[in-house]
Amino acid sequence: MPTKTEDLSSFLTKSLKDPSIFVNYGIINGEERKGTDGKTFAISEPSSKEVLANCADLSKNDIIEAINLAVTGFANFSSNTSAKQRGLILKEFFRLIIANSDDLAMILSLENGKTLAEASGEVNYAASFVSWFAEEAPRSYGDAIPSSYANTEVFTFKEPVGVCGIITPWNFPAAMITRKIAPALAAGCSVVIKPPRETPFSALALCKLAIKAGIPPDCFHVVPTTDREAASELAINEKVNKLSFTGSTGVGKMLTRLAAGTMKRVSMELGGNAPLIILEDADISKAVAGVMVCKFRSSGQTCVCANRILVHLDIKDRFIEALVDRVNALKLGRGIEGGTTQGPLVNAAAVKKVSEHVQDALSKGGVLHAGGKEQAHLNGFFYEPTVISEATTKMEVAHDETFGPLAAIFSFNSETEALELANATNYGLAGYFFSENIGRVMRVARKLHCGMVGVNTGLISAAESPFGGVKESGMGREGRKYGLQEYQNIKCVTIGNLQE
Ligand code: SIN
Repeated sequence: MPTKTEDLSSFLTKSLKDPSIFVNYGIINGEERKGTDGKTFAISEPSSKEVLANCADLSKNDIIEAINLAVTGFANFSSNTSAKQRGLILKEFFRLIIANSDDLAMILSLENGKTLAEASGEVNYAASFVSWFAEEAPRSYGDAIPSSYANTEVFTFKEPVGVCGIITPWNFPAAMITRKIAPALAAGCSVVIKPPRETPFSALALCKLAIKAGIPPDCFHVVPTTDREAASELAINEKVNKLSFTGSTGVGKMLTRLAAGTMKRVSMELGGNAPLIILEDADISKAVAGVMVCKFRSSGQTCVCANRILVHLDIKDRFIEALVDRVNALKLGRGIEGGTTQGPLVNAAAVKKVSEHVQDALSKGGVLHAGGKEQAHLNGFFYEPTVISEATTKMEVAHDETFGPLAAIFSFNSETEALELANATNYGLAGYFFSENIGRVMRVARKLHCGMVGVNTGLISAAESPFGGVKESGMGREGRKYGLQEYQNIKCVTIGNLQE
């Protein structure tokens, strides 16, 4: 922890084993890029509101320059490396992430607020995408099928899409970068990354390690900016062939409209409103553990967090009692302080939103069992882990993602009612349920309208699991072989007149 007189940035530099991975400028072609006229923006630690560092604020011209360099970078990288070589470079990138994981976790915890334990977990999660796609790179299969014409062969192979624009969120400052760039680089693409305004330093540190691992500098650019119009260039510019975005549904729709101007490929990982159903035959201890990890991971700031917890009336009271015991044992505090289990929210707007959802629920008949208050005295953006029962569809939490530590408990009487409630949303990212009945497990998993289903678990994210949604939660999948395909085009070759 910093001493009373020490500023946060000195504390960070002192804590890092290799301070050179912490940089506060853009990286274009492997070189430091300052903002025009020295323009910067401040990044503060959400737990203390203290400034961590100022970061260079790049312009639209900088982004256009990065895109132009990425065009040449792509041409060289895709034609001069084999898939196996790209896999080897990614293996070295993985090795460097693991070797620097303590430093990366410290940077991540300070800029995002999450606990050091969660930040370390995220660094490992980020690294897992790099090792996964290092292995996937050489497994980029095409196929062949008998042609319907005589004396003809028809087959397909995969080609990299080209220059990729990557726009990522603050809630997973490292993993959301690697989940996109590892498959892009494995395929042979080049990337221009616009990191989140709140947490640019993890992306910049990863860029330094990627270049050190052997990714050509003209293939990997990071352009921090607060200028939305400049960032939109990644969606508009005709030289960008693919746009991958993780963030809100509203911004995703806007970027998709812009990308349509050049018909570029898009992957959109957008908002969720996940239901978590606890059926009457569930094992309550598994369900409580599942809710704890699913709802309170990253203080409720994940797009796969359970937003609506639906509990069968027969077991509701027992479930609430067990959940409240666990929630009351959580400890709010600074991410880098030992013993903290819950970090802060990202900013004041996030605290306001949780507070509004809680007040709205309580004003409409919700019953408070735990939490329910902002913790302004802690100096950061803290809101207590909160449990409210008697939630109804009239409440805001039923329709809008809280993105914070509010466990809203709805109840139901039958499986049919639970499914109706669960599917009554425009979103379809994740859904969860708990049941010990195998027939029911298969039935309910099929009937939930979402891209990912967790059964008897609250943790579904991993490199081998295709991440993505249906409905307004977006399009595309990240992870497994599908993640690589998002960065590839299928080319079909027909060879006719093969007769002698
Ligand atoms: C997200 O919230 O965007 C990602 C969460 C995850 O990968 O588990």
